[in-house]
Amino acid sequence: MEKFYITTPIYYVNDIPHIGHAYTTIACDAVSRYKRMKGFDVRFLTGTDEHGQKIQAAAEAQGITPQALVDKIHLNFKELWKVLNISNDDFIRTTEERHIKTVQAIFAKLMEQGDIYKGTYSGYYCVPDETYVPENAMGPNKTCPDCGRPLILMEEESYFFRGSKYVPELIRYYEEHVKAVMPKVRYNEIMSFLKGGVRDQSVSRTSLKWGIPVPGDEKHVIYVWFDALINYASAVGYLDDPEKFREWWPDVRHMVGKDIIRFHCVTWPLMLLALGVNLPVEVIAHGWWTVDSEKMSKSRGNVVDPFRMVKKYGLDPFRYFLLREVPFGLDGDFSELALVGRINSDLANDLGNLLNRTLQMIASYRDGAVPSCSDSSSPLSQLVPEVLPRVDEAMNNYAYDEALKAIWEFIGRANKFIDETMPWKLAKDESQQEKLSWVLLNLYEALRLSALLIAPFMPDTSKRIYAQLGQDSDPLKCRYDSFVWGDCAGTKTHKAEVLFPRIDIEEWKKAKEAEKKPEKPADTQPEIGIEDFGKVEMRVAQVVHVEEIPRSKKLYKLEVDLGYEKRTVCSGIKAFFTPEELTGKRVILVTNLKPVKLCGVESNGMILCASVKHEGKAEQLTLLTPEKDIPLGSRVS
Ligand code: ME8
Ligand code: MG
Repeated sequence: MEKFYITTPIYYVNDIPHIGHAYTTIACDAVSRYKRMKGFDVRFLTGTDEHGQKIQAAAEAQGITPQALVDKIHLNFKELWKVLNISNDDFIRTTEERHIKTVQAIFAKLMEQGDIYKGTYSGYYCVPDETYVPENAMGPNKTCPDCGRPLILMEEESYFFRGSKYVPELIRYYEEHVKAVMPKVRYNEIMSFLKGGVRDQSVSRTSLKWGIPVPGDEKHVIYVWFDALINYASAVGYLDDPEKFREWWPDVRHMVGKDIIRFHCVTWPLMLLALGVNLPVEVIAHGWWTVDSEKMSKSRGNVVDPFRMVKKYGLDPFRYFLLREVPFGLDGDFSELALVGRINSDLANDLGNLLNRTLQMIASYRDGAVPSCSDSSSPLSQLVPEVLPRVDEAMNNYAYDEALKAIWEFIGRANKFIDETMPWKLAKDESQQEKLSWVLLNLYEALRLSALLIAPFMPDTSKRIYAQLGQDSDPLKCRYDSFVWGDCAGTKTHKAEVLFPRIDIEEWKKAKEAEKKPEKPADTQPEIGIEDFGKVEMRVAQVVHVEEIPRSKKLYKLEVDLGYEKRTVCSGIKAFFTPEELTGKRVILVTNLKPVKLCGVESNGMILCASVKHEGKAEQLTLLTPEKDIPLGSRVS
């Protein structure tokens, strides 16, 4: 059987999984499922990247050991893959024995053959990205060109990998294998990078503990990327199961986000050339997701939680949306509104309706049994020899959106077939019964084939359709090449059930508004006791006079009356009030603040205001005033 070995990147466990991770893994899952249904022997690997500076830092921040951190956090990924119905055959963690041993063996081998040597390294390092940044690529003020965060200068004794030696061979390989990096833009990017020259890379660190020790020189740990890339080989027995390795390695391919193609299309192949094993058949790079047109980031607070999306909209709509929405390889924008749009149109309207209408007609006109007819060929059956190859070509290019488009054109054609043949009219005409049977059989077969075609993308939906169609077999175990049109006369169908309830857009918008509750403020303060609060003396006062301070754009000089005394107070509220608006207002004054001099004026207290600030600057502001009349000087408590 033809082999197909595919991998996701192994994800860092310092972070919680988000739609970016979900996307890569779902894309690998869909193609794995597709290939299985095409009769390939598939191996699908995912896992977690558990060493390195940022894992160590995350553990320190939480006050636990790195091992405890990774043992806990990697479970989030395992849990997500269960929730997303991911069919991976293996899950590798870089802290597992099988991996650690392989990495050390590879390091030792390369050292022995002179491809790893000792030197010193000094350079600017981006901790969050775990990578050195060459000086000519640094952003302004020595920041990371990718993530914009500040770089730190590191100098250390280091082992180097003599990758430069293999660059000409790698260029030759890519010249002969133009599909080894997909899509084409990424191929071009890699080629021009390689032709620009590649220096030997540092592959060890002394500045950190959390990593795999260099064999024979334990003060060094192996650089996390050198370690991580090897996972693809350690998971298929590179070290101690040569048979398994020979079985899978010739067909290895990696799917990655465009952010990490250099590691996968330069570093890793150079390592493989040095090891004398074949290079990946393909490295497939997908684009990046933004959210409502903004970059997804923790600081923006717009990171999309896949668990939440699945709970809210269902798994298969979420999978469908991610794969259908953007042409693979390009960046895409995630928005819930767009997701709801696709649920209503593609899923509820097109697919859901076809199933519903067909099953209802078979129930009312043919007692729920698929009718037979003498010749089952039709405009729908004639499409089959077009649809299958179109889907296949798309899937061979990882063009999920194209594959789904082809399937949905077929579904659309079937809906149109109902409108054209008008079965409800045929049903009333005794002489049209053979034609009615022909229509119903064809619709049934169109649905059966559609269920098979969507199976890699929406496995649960495929099963639900199959069950409603009265098919006993598991569609996910079916093979496309065994599909025969017109095979199913006599099958008892079941009651039509709604696959995808329509979402009322107006209701949805209302619920969404209600969801938008403000975030917890960033400047919340530690708890205090009532005795601390009691130290602040606040009293009702009245503004009696307002003056501008010539040197200040923000401040007013106010005279306020506390009943028992008058005071001068400076207040930064000029942007929000005219002197007339303020004069006569009752306010709350903090009376026991130490006096301060502001723009040459001594201020004896502070007026309370509530404000909305943006980047430290007040954008909205209101005074606190007593709600009823109460004598001046009354204490606030
Ligand atoms: O880079 N849109 O791990 P990582 C689309 N451990 N995909 C996204 C995304 C986004 N906004 N954000 C992340 C690492 N991804 C290394 C890999 S492999 C030997 C080591 C996806 O946790 C995308 O596939 O930062 C990207 O390559 C991967 O998550 C990075 O995950
Ligand atoms: Mg990353």
